[in-house]
Amino acid sequence: MQKYLITGGAGFIGSNFIRYMLSKSDDITIINLDKLTYAGNLDNLKDIESDDRYRFVKGDICDSGLVNSLMKDVSVVVNFAAESHVDRSIGTPDEFIQTDIFGCFILLEAARKYGIERFMQISTDEVYGSIDNGLFKETDALMPSSPYSASKAGADRLVYSYYITYQMPVVIPRSSNNFGPYQYPEKLISLFITNALDKISLPVYGDGKNVRDWLYVQDNCEALDCILHHGKDGEVYNVGAGNEKDNLEITQLIIDATGNTENLITFVEDRKGHDRRYALDVSKIRSLGWEPRHDFHSALNETVDWYRDNRWWWEKLKSGEYLEYYRHHYKRDL
Ligand code: NAD
Ligand code: DAU
Repeated sequence: MQKYLITGGAGFIGSNFIRYMLSKSDDITIINLDKLTYAGNLDNLKDIESDDRYRFVKGDICDSGLVNSLMKDVSVVVNFAAESHVDRSIGTPDEFIQTDIFGCFILLEAARKYGIERFMQISTDEVYGSIDNGLFKETDALMPSSPYSASKAGADRLVYSYYITYQMPVVIPRSSNNFGPYQYPEKLISLFITNALDKISLPVYGDGKNVRDWLYVQDNCEALDCILHHGKDGEVYNVGAGNEKDNLEITQLIIDATGNTENLITFVEDRKGHDRRYALDVSKIRSLGWEPRHDFHSALNETVDWYRDNRWWWEKLKSGEYLEYYRHHYKRDL
């Protein structure tokens, strides 16, 4: 029986990963420790909340007493918990440093005390910074450019230090931009799909030519599972699907899939320190046997369908505090 502590499991990728792991294996129990920040949402896990193999605990990964009490009963830790939105980190970096770095340290210390069998730290391709040409390899220097990516880089290397210093069996995936169901509507694809369904403008930053490598969340979950079980101790693994698209291409695809026109596009002030392009060499994880199974265009269309069919999930998120934050932070209405 594998006993998991999954942190941040009420967020976008964490909830998809919990659902995936429970569907794949009977021989598993999962504790989901999540603080339920604005991005944490128990609606993401409604279909599995009464599964006997699953338990939700509301709490903070920075709470050492709570983390230690949970760590006693588990053998595997997967740390998704983080403040995850670059724009928010530019306005208010405090929580990013606290959760993404200090929270990770609290988890590592408890994992060290209880001799955990596997510690997987969910890192990100953003730790490398921007690359104009070519692909980042796992051995390249980390040059993060936002408080978000710098906090993730700090945690990434802190986890590695526990492998070198204490021989903790860690693995560190660095995935590219995910999209799919249950993504909080503040990230490019989830925001633009939900705006487009409501015929609200799509705010493209700068010239819209920034490039990301888009990865369907289901493919990412399979990659994380592969790294967890087959990755080598102390190793970093890039995860990407090779779907390089600039933001205007993504915007046009969403406009087409929702039956809108380009009139919906509004060019707005660029993000500060905006990384131009992310692109990964993924030969290392390919050598473990993983490859993405989903075609990008079909996955994007399925994602649009999911948001169209699940207004109950996102409509209530895009009201009240969300609109206040949007007006205050971006100095404009949706
Ligand atoms: P998300 O913002 O949707 O979810 C984060 C979750 O962490 C939320 O449920 C939130 O409540 C929880 N959380 C925040 N602070 C916490 C704390 N102190 N204690 C306990 N729980 C806390 O994020 P996501 O997009 O699902 O990303 C998950 C992880 O994957 C993050 O570590 C992120 O850096 C990483 N990542 C994301 C992407 C992407 O494209 N979204 C790509 C690569 C890596
Ligand atoms: O690369 C992995 C990272 O991807 C993760 O580590 C982060 O948690 C995740 O938030 C994401 O970061 P990005 O900054 O790349 O994603 P975001 O969806 O915020 O933006 C994608 C691109 O779209 C980026 O070039 C900025 C642009 N954008 C974004 C928003 C929200 C816009 O043009 N308009 C917008 O309104």
